[in-house]
Amino acid sequence: MADDTSRFMAMKGAGYYSQATVGARNVITGAIPVVKAALAAQDLGTQTGAITFTDMGCADGGTSLDMWGAVLGDLRAEFPGHALQLTYTDLPKNDFSQLFQIVHGLTDLPSYADKIDNLYIMASATSFHHPIVPPGTLNLGFSATASHYISETPAQIPDHVHMVGSTGAVRDAFRAQGARDWEAFLLARAQELAPGGRLVLYNFGIDEQGRYLGHTGGQSMFDMFARLWRALVEDGTITEDEYRATNFPQHYRTVEEFAAPFRNTDNPVYKAGLRLEEIGTLHTRCPFEQSFTEDHKDAARFAKDYIPTLRSWSEPTFVAGLSGTRPAEEIAPIIDRFYQSYEDAVAAEPEGHAMDYIHARVVAFKDG
Ligand SMILES: C[S@@+](CC[C@H](N)C(=O)[O-])C[C@H]1O[C@@H](n2cnc3c(N)ncnc32)[C@H](O)[C@@H]1O
Repeated sequence: MADDTSRFMAMKGAGYYSQATVGARNVITGAIPVVKAALAAQDLGTQTGAITFTDMGCADGGTSLDMWGAVLGDLRAEFPGHALQLTYTDLPKNDFSQLFQIVHGLTDLPSYADKIDNLYIMASATSFHHPIVPPGTLNLGFSATASHYISETPAQIPDHVHMVGSTGAVRDAFRAQGARDWEAFLLARAQELAPGGRLVLYNFGIDEQGRYLGHTGGQSMFDMFARLWRALVEDGTITEDEYRATNFPQHYRTVEEFAAPFRNTDNPVYKAGLRLEEIGTLHTRCPFEQSFTEDHKDAARFAKDYIPTLRSWSEPTFVAGLSGTRPAEEIAPIIDRFYQSYEDAVAAEPEGHAMDYIHARVVAFKDG
């Protein structure tokens, strides 16, 4: 059965995602040594059959091209006799055609695919809350900036659009949904991993200082979203019901929430043999704010460069909030106006705007 949010979830397609998300690519490229270490910790030389990988929640595949090129290139040299098999995974509404064009070098982005022989590239549209590859076959499961998407939105968020703006019972409902989905994610991986197989996961979350995406000091991005979306209610563009129906299907977990299934020996994840090797947080600076502050200092240019990175992943949620009875020709101008209002606000007062990334990095292995 399809997960609830999978019915509308996808990044903005046609290559928009990769073009706009330099920061996400920087995070993944920074993961190269961690992925290499997770492979070096396994006895791959004696393995018969292909060495296998997944890239879960890959979007259009552009942000992980450099990482896979480096990792697979090294492995090819070290194990010339082994087939390598990489499965890209995302939800059914993902733009898989764009993914294949990017990975097979049909766009401006240089790809590794034709430089590595005996390499088999596949794709799956099975949710990462379910097993994706056959039991006991996976050597390395990778995922960046994806596990915060939850399979259903457990409650409407009063006067906000994201769980970070919720309190009390609503916050608890998101926390509980986040825990269920994290457990399902890990249990599915426990089933897929070969003995000694590794997970390398860069998850959006909340760090020890309470920081999260776009909330690292200065303007808080999700508060801006909520305020500007509310302004469209106030001027009569959208209805109160549409505002209420706009809820990001996401939960930002704390480090404790990420670690819990591994630390509780009664948890099914622990019982399934998954063990935590490493957990920590990392802060990645917004490249658009950095370039504005340290280089060009042009507020209008910053605003124009910056908004597409927000839009690449947030637009589907705002579109989904609008009434299903609105004709398509009404939706596009509303959404354009909304992001234009964000761009205007940044251009007028650029200080403090930034979409810094906060990740919790989890490395785990399958015991046995
Ligand atoms: C922000 S993008 C990250 C893309 C890429 N990994 C990166 O770091 O640049 C999140 C991706 O996760 C996917 N996603 C969300 N929920 C998912 C699920 N249950 N199973 C598989 N993919 C999912 C979304 O469709 C989206 O493409």
